[in-house]
Amino acid sequence: MSKPKVFVTRLIPEAGLDLVREACDAEVWSEPLPPPIEVVKEKLAGCQGLLSLLTEKIDGELLDALPDLKVVSNYAVGFNNIDIPAATERGVCVGNTPGVLTEATADLAFTLLISAARRVVEGHRYTVEGKWRTWEPRGHIGQDLMGKTIGIIGMGRIGYAMAKRCHLGWDMQVLYHDPNVNEHADRDLKAKHVDFETLLAESDFISVHADLNETTKGMFDSKAFKQMKSTAVFVNTARGPLVVEADLTAALKQGEIFAAGLDVTDPEPPNMENPLLQLENVTILPHIASATVSSRNGMARIAAENLIAGVRGEALPHWVNP
Ligand code: DGY
Repeated sequence: MSKPKVFVTRLIPEAGLDLVREACDAEVWSEPLPPPIEVVKEKLAGCQGLLSLLTEKIDGELLDALPDLKVVSNYAVGFNNIDIPAATERGVCVGNTPGVLTEATADLAFTLLISAARRVVEGHRYTVEGKWRTWEPRGHIGQDLMGKTIGIIGMGRIGYAMAKRCHLGWDMQVLYHDPNVNEHADRDLKAKHVDFETLLAESDFISVHADLNETTKGMFDSKAFKQMKSTAVFVNTARGPLVVEADLTAALKQGEIFAAGLDVTDPEPPNMENPLLQLENVTILPHIASATVSSRNGMARIAAENLIAGVRGEALPHWVNP
């Protein structure tokens, strides 16, 4: 019996690729940059499965050109790159990779929080640029962490893991804004479910862990930044378009907030002309929150399992649109 044809849009870790190759007739795009959409379309002709990354935009128009496609398995927990209603209407299953990147992502969010609060990257640049002349009693002053208030936007798995670090490690009070109450957070971390305005006004640190959708897109705009404390540190490891970047830039420039730590931008990568890149009080990383050995291997394994289940017409282990 011939194996089902699938297309994998990048070299993912062997932990997943081996499974895919064993079960499927797989073509793998091995270039460092994503395949252009025309190439994706061409490669997918006759394929039953697609293993995609967050860099691929999967919409109704693409799906209409792929009548044999049964499954899109996204190598990410987020799936805002996929038009889910369009996939569901066409009977295409969509899978994602939750759980395995929770701790790594929370670790990076906390890294950004502490780096931005204590001006770590700025201090590094200052040192390597030869500006360090003496110990400065009034220089490089950052924000304290111990006992402060963390505001979590999106108290899901990752939001909870971040809140846990802040509460158990740094004795912070946890506020969160989410459509749902998280009873574990309320009970174990003494977290308080609050409205958006209260969170903005009362938090010393704000960490974003929400999905990107029509409701959350652009939720951090100039109005939101103006409601934050001037000492606030803003961290985003979720998705760039949750933030109106020009408004964040203005808030950082005008001292409306103290600093920001970003693992995501809009677009990715940022345009090198973007004034945000010139600011001292921002730390920007190239979307690496899940970049640890076990997270990326786990994501590869789950993405392969979703793909294989989908081409076989079985239930996906992590199914976004059952
Ligand atoms: C995700 O999984 O959604 C991250 O953004 C990349 O790992």
